[in-house]
Amino acid sequence: MNQIKNIVFIGAGNVATQFALAFKRAGLQILQVYSRTVNSARVLAEKVQAEHTTNLKSLNKDADLYLISVSDNAVEELTSQLSLKDKLTVHTSGSIPLEILNKVSVNHGVFYPLQTFSKSREVDFSNIPICVEANSAENLEKLKSVAKTLSNNIYEVDSEQRKVLHLAAVFACNFPNFMYTIADKILRDSDIHFDILRPLIKETAEKIQDVKPAEAQTGPAIRNDEKILSGHMEMLNDFPQLKELYKLISAEIQKINPK
Ligand SMILES: NC(=O)c1ccc[n+]([C@@H]2O[C@H](COP(=O)([O-])OP(=O)(O)OC[C@H]3O[C@@H](n4cnc5c(N)ncnc54)[C@H](OP(=O)(O)O)[C@@H]3O)[C@@H](O)[C@H]2O)c1
Repeated sequence: MNQIKNIVFIGAGNVATQFALAFKRAGLQILQVYSRTVNSARVLAEKVQAEHTTNLKSLNKDADLYLISVSDNAVEELTSQLSLKDKLTVHTSGSIPLEILNKVSVNHGVFYPLQTFSKSREVDFSNIPICVEANSAENLEKLKSVAKTLSNNIYEVDSEQRKVLHLAAVFACNFPNFMYTIADKILRDSDIHFDILRPLIKETAEKIQDVKPAEAQTGPAIRNDEKILSGHMEMLNDFPQLKELYKLISAEIQKINPK
């Protein structure tokens, strides 16, 4: 089985940036970065000493792996313009099925990292789950092997399971992060800095490394403290949607059975 030694990146966003940097650190070569706008392509290409292009027709044809990592709503249009014959091609989306790559190449797969990425924040890949799927046993082995250059946590996950993982990840990561934004706004309105909440946020995430989330639940809702709950809702009178959110989430928390 041929090892993957070099990669062309299609997309230069959050995930592409962190994958490209991590593969480069692991000793693989990034041959080229394609992106829709020249600035994104150039910025990432310079970081990993690669060529860059904004023209899909100028894609380097000699890579061992083509990694498509663009925003979900751009994947379909982009793949309809790509023809990579038998070149191993993957996408990195949580919710897009493997089959979307059927017409792009006879060898294709999915390389979905279950982590949150931003361009500006380098991450340690060693324990990030990388969920792989492929259209043949040989392609799957190739993807597992290249995934192992980055992480010790490789999972074989099919498209249906990946969709479920993505939904769970939205609840476990994207929604809590939005809650931090609400907390930040509430504090700023009273001239209090968000920094005071950071230890609480850290401990909340660390605690559930040892206990089940339902067992770790604290706060007025799980204690059924109606006086505090109505007091908080009164404080949100000027923000009816946040008040609704507070009421809905508190009611759901009150249904938790920690057993
Ligand atoms: N971010 C995460 O935490 C995360 C985690 C796991 C998986 N994923 C998945 O990884 C993929 C990439 O996510 P991301 O967060 O890296 O996305 P992103 O930062 O928003 O990706 C931006 C990339 O998509 C390109 N793009 C956006 N709209 C386009 C369009 N209409 N046509 C062509 N190109 C377009 C951008 O091009 P320009 O910059 O040139 O405009 C850029 O290269 C998605 O499938 C996402 O679901 C994301």
